[in-house]
This record gives sequence, structure tokens and C-alpha cells, in this order.
Amino acid sequence: MVPLLFFQLNGTHMDTPFVELLVCTSCRGEQAHDDATERPGTTLMQRLQAAMPEAIRITPVACFSNCSQGCTIALRGSGRWTYVYGRLNAESDIAPLIEGAVKYAATPDGIVPWRERPEHFRKNCIARIPPIEGFSS
Ligand code: FES
Repeated sequence: MVPLLFFQLNGTHMDTPFVELLVCTSCRGEQAHDDATERPGTTLMQRLQAAMPEAIRITPVACFSNCSQGCTIALRGSGRWTYVYGRLNAESDIAPLIEGAVKYAATPDGIVPWRERPEHFRKNCIARIPPIEGFSS
């Protein structure tokens, strides 16, 4: 049995399982990057940590093996499909990432209806992985 967390999103209490957003901090982004400066993946993680609702945990990872496709994140949660997204920009994609993560957290299985997903999520999904607890497709 998965323990449930009670948390608040946009002023509404929800009875929702744990949700986590993993961010690759090693990503160099889609532009050439000088290793003397902070990597765009690290910048992306820091900006998400500052802005994401507390109920969604931000976790750094070293690499998703998606290195040639910009900054990369994954959304996962108990009983949910896991989604991997790439080509993220640490400057311009914070708002759509928060929107997408909040919508993901508001579903019971992680599947946000296609038309309700942020445009970046619709166009840059690298992979989706079924929940370990079993699923119906
Ligand atoms: S460096 Fe980010 S996916 Fe490999």
C-alpha cells in the first residue's frame, strides 16, 4: 500500500501520492557551453527549486543519457506513468514546467490529457514509462 500525502496546490487540498521532478544538472543545453560557467541544467534545477510548489519534490540527477537534446527532466510518482522531457531552456521554460508538473500531480495516474499539456511537453517528450505498480493503457 502506497502512503498518501496530503498537500495543497493552487489553494486546493488534494489526496495525492508522492510526485517528484528529477532534473539533470549536467546538461549543457542546446547551445555550445563553456565549462567555466554553471551548466544550464544546474541553473534549471535551482530556478525550479525556487518556484515549484512545495508538494512536488525536485531531485538532481547526474545524467539521463539524453545529453544531445538540451536540458532534460523526468516526472514520476507512485502509481503514475513516468515522463521524460528534453530540449528545456533554463531561462524560458520554468513556467511551462511548473504548469506541467502541477497538472501531472493533479492526476491519479500521471496522464494529463494531451490538449491540457503545456506545448513544450506535447512537442518534446523523450519517453514515457508505465508505473511499476502495473497499469492499464
Ligand atoms: S548531461 Fe543531461 S542528460 Fe546527459
